Amino acid sequence: MYLKEVRINDFRNYNNLRVQPHRELNFITGPNARGKTNFLESIFFAGLGRTFRGHDRDIIKWDANRASVQAFFYLADCTVEVKAEIASEGKKKILINGADNGRQDMPGCFGIVLFKPDDLQIIKGSPGLRRDFIDNDLGVIEPMYRNTLNKYRRVLAHRNNLLRVGGDMCGENIEIWNEQLYLYGAQVLSLRIRLLKKIYPLVKKAYSEISGAGEELGMRYLSTVKLSNSADAEQITKDFTAEGKAREREELYKKQTIIGPHRDDLVFYLNGKDVRQFGSQGQIRSVVLALKTAQMRLFYQDTGEEPILLLDDVLMELDEARQHYLMDMISGQIQTFITSSTGKEKFSGLQGKIYLVDGFGMKEV
Ligand SMILES: Nc1ncnc2c1ncn2[C@@H]1O[C@H](COP(=O)(O)OP(=O)(O)O)[C@@H](O)[C@H]1O
Ligand SMILES: [Mg+2]
Repeated sequence: MYLKEVRINDFRNYNNLRVQPHRELNFITGPNARGKTNFLESIFFAGLGRTFRGHDRDIIKWDANRASVQAFFYLADCTVEVKAEIASEGKKKILINGADNGRQDMPGCFGIVLFKPDDLQIIKGSPGLRRDFIDNDLGVIEPMYRNTLNKYRRVLAHRNNLLRVGGDMCGENIEIWNEQLYLYGAQVLSLRIRLLKKIYPLVKKAYSEISGAGEELGMRYLSTVKLSNSADAEQITKDFTAEGKAREREELYKKQTIIGPHRDDLVFYLNGKDVRQFGSQGQIRSVVLALKTAQMRLFYQDTGEEPILLLDDVLMELDEARQHYLMDMISGQIQTFITSSTGKEKFSGLQGKIYLVDGFGMKEV
């Protein structure tokens, strides 16, 4: 898929903007803090119905009370119009070809892959960031995932409230929430394992392409629930129920749900050694690049469509070899938006458009 045209209204520092990007390469340059990332964010918002920084309502221009993005994507041999709006009270409205799907999120058919500087934290940061990678970046390709995760989160929040007051509130007992917690938790776990099994060969392959031979990338899902070797939701429900029962006393004491997918982690290994602990800066960059590459290929594998790639201030930060790897992979196939305050000369000979962002708008140069 690719973006044919985008129209932006009262979005971050943009008042009114209309852009018809190049089918292949779009290089967006300009001084800092003028709106390069904001522009990428508008494409992300149109494709995925959410922002990648802060709250969704933060995207509304400060002096306005709603922001909207209208995008024309070329997808499955036709043009699909998306209109995504958010009002200051936080309510979103998403129209696809004029029809309101009544939801606050997007159907998973729009592939947008974003690579931003703090993605290195996927490896180095807290487990929550790795769970976010699974939930937000991989989860979009599995139609049931978001829905199941939301159900789990609702039950979890409710159960935690009950635990905080000792397990009993207004005659409501923790027991009735346990069953749902284990059921939805097991479904989340089962889908996560399925997603990770699907992406693992792609990550491994991409890593070996990037780093050359000799290093083997491993990935392991580390669950707080003791799982017997099965990704089957029914079996996991049994595992989760057994483990949950055994830990309930501790949970009542600690006043929170201590096991479940909300506490799990994902560990990366290079030749058997934990990358987070032992990886060099270069190895960490390569692992993240491999993850993003795999995310793109997975979308293609699942839908037969290439996703749109947003590279926010990362390309110039990579060394020459990794830059080449990325540019070769996208060349001619994947519509790409690259932001950078430097490096314009690198792109002047290539097929594509160069835009300058100056704080008031964005124009082709
Ligand atoms: N909701 C908003 N309304 C108006 N301006 C905003 C809003 N959010 C951020 N900005 C402005 O956008 C600018 C940052 O834009 P950004 O795209 O992140 O810059 P860069 O070009 O460095 O990527 C800042 O000047 C900030 O003040
Ligand atoms: Mg930026």
